Amino acid sequence: MALHVAVIGSGPAGIYTAEALVKQSAEPVRVDVLERLPTPYGLVRYGVAPDHTSIKSIAGYLRKVLELPQVRFLGGVTLGEHLSVDDLLGVYDAVVYCTGAMVDRRLGIPGEDLPGSVAATDFVNWYCGHPDVDAGRFTLDSSEVAVIGVGNVAVDVVRVLAKTADELRATDVPHEVLERLEESQVKAIHMIGRRGPEHAKFTLKELRELGELANADVCVRPEEAVVLGGDFPRQVQGNIKVLQGWAEREPAGRPRRLDVRFWLRPVEILGTERVEGLRLERTRLSDEGRVVGTGEYETLPVGMVLRSVGYRSVPLPGVPFSEQTMTVPNQAGRVRDREYVAGWLKRGPTGVIGTNKSDAAETVRTLLADLAGRERVGHDGVGAVLAARGVRPVTYDEWLAVEAAEAELAKTLGRGDRVKLAGLEAMLRACRP
Ligand SMILES: Cc1cc2nc3c(=O)[nH]c(=O)nc-3n(C[C@H](O)[C@H](O)[C@H](O)COP(=O)(O)OP(=O)(O)OC[C@H]3O[C@@H](n4cnc5c(N)ncnc54)[C@H](O)[C@@H]3O)c2cc1C
Ligand SMILES: NC(=O)c1ccc[n+]([C@@H]2O[C@H](COP(=O)([O-])OP(=O)(O)OC[C@H]3O[C@@H](n4cnc5c(N)ncnc54)[C@H](OP(=O)(O)O)[C@@H]3O)[C@@H](O)[C@H]2O)c1
Repeated sequence: MALHVAVIGSGPAGIYTAEALVKQSAEPVRVDVLERLPTPYGLVRYGVAPDHTSIKSIAGYLRKVLELPQVRFLGGVTLGEHLSVDDLLGVYDAVVYCTGAMVDRRLGIPGEDLPGSVAATDFVNWYCGHPDVDAGRFTLDSSEVAVIGVGNVAVDVVRVLAKTADELRATDVPHEVLERLEESQVKAIHMIGRRGPEHAKFTLKELRELGELANADVCVRPEEAVVLGGDFPRQVQGNIKVLQGWAEREPAGRPRRLDVRFWLRPVEILGTERVEGLRLERTRLSDEGRVVGTGEYETLPVGMVLRSVGYRSVPLPGVPFSEQTMTVPNQAGRVRDREYVAGWLKRGPTGVIGTNKSDAAETVRTLLADLAGRERVGHDGVGAVLAARGVRPVTYDEWLAVEAAEAELAKTLGRGDRVKLAGLEAMLRACRP
């Protein structure tokens, strides 16, 4: 009898887990991929920047896994709302949690909750058309914007702010979002690193792209590009070289300007009704290598602050969770008897899409070794549990209908291959006309 496994979450970790489970030859496995949204692919659909079309094409690989006969997609099913851990363990031999990291880390400074102070998670969800964020949520009516953090998400956010709406027209951004981008008043973007160029988390390819923006000049202050010491990994050396090159460049007078700043930490977001400024303190490293303030301050006159300082997982009801690491404690993917974890929920919010493949493979090795020779309890029973609760999952074919509607919309609007439908209702209307 086949092993029945539930994978919770259809991002890269969930789909690579399903693939590793069905592509091994030790024993037959059937996998249900349960996803809270009607759409698969997690951050590949709702994180990867719309203008990074070659990276987004990884969805073509992931879809082949969902189309394997042993794999079934059940969308619109949320663990903790429609099903509990006990429900799952009643109908499956094992469960693998792959729910990623969907909320922002906090800065913990005054003014963080003022209108105009925005988590990158929300901003990314907005331009990616995630149904959790209304397409009308943001208006880019400030001429100066600060982006806190110098990781790859910050680079994505900066690029979307710096490009013209025309440059994004052929992408899949929802049409309502494109209209907001068309009306953008943004002239100056300040990207703020609390340490030096040698500590920045962005990768070289992504950094270089900023230097190729047609609509924005990129500026670095020579004194902030100075780096002491020289024994850095190749990627870091590349970043430093690019940044020092920009420090020597004269602005070409493009409509927007990006200032990449270093050695500044945010201490307060200023304003009474909404964001009116960002107070920064110059920093240095202490003898122990910690970021410490120097007592020297500057204020940027920004009307919007985008906080791009990392993502964070949330606990799943009934599943162990460490508040310290913000992950599910595990040994090589094992959480408890018949419960496993993979992806960002397992190791934290770092790493590219491919990192989740080896991570999922480790979890699957552990699972198969644990369950080898054990009596099977799993069966095809989740449909009945959901039906009893009035939940009708979105099938894979229904998801394909959403895809078809998005392609049709792009054609109607004369925009690229796909335009995302904004909002849950529009998606459900497309798949259940
Ligand atoms: C903004 C951004 C851009 C990125 N761009 C790139 C890039 O260009 N290239 C690259 O290589 N990497 C990129 N990454 C990293 C990459 O996206 C991650 O490594 C990867 O998506 C993590 O996979 P995951 O499956 O663990 O999580 P996710 O992709 O987040 O998938 C988790 C899934 O679980 C679902 N879920 C959550 N809770 C529940 C629940 N209770 N019940 C059921 N389902 C649930 C979610 O809806 C989601 O579909 C980016 C990350 C971010 C944040
Ligand atoms: N194109 C791509 O391949 C791509 C695109 C997007 C995302 N990703 C991946 O997705 C993962 C997540 O990216 P991310 O950018 O969210 O996270 P990240 O790489 O961890 O970067 C977070 C940034 O926030 C800064 N930060 C954290 N706390 C701060 C604070 N309190 N004050 C000021 N700054 C603070 C960090 O600085 P410190 O270093 O000083 O802590 C760092 O610069 C990464 O692995 C990334 O590579 C990849």
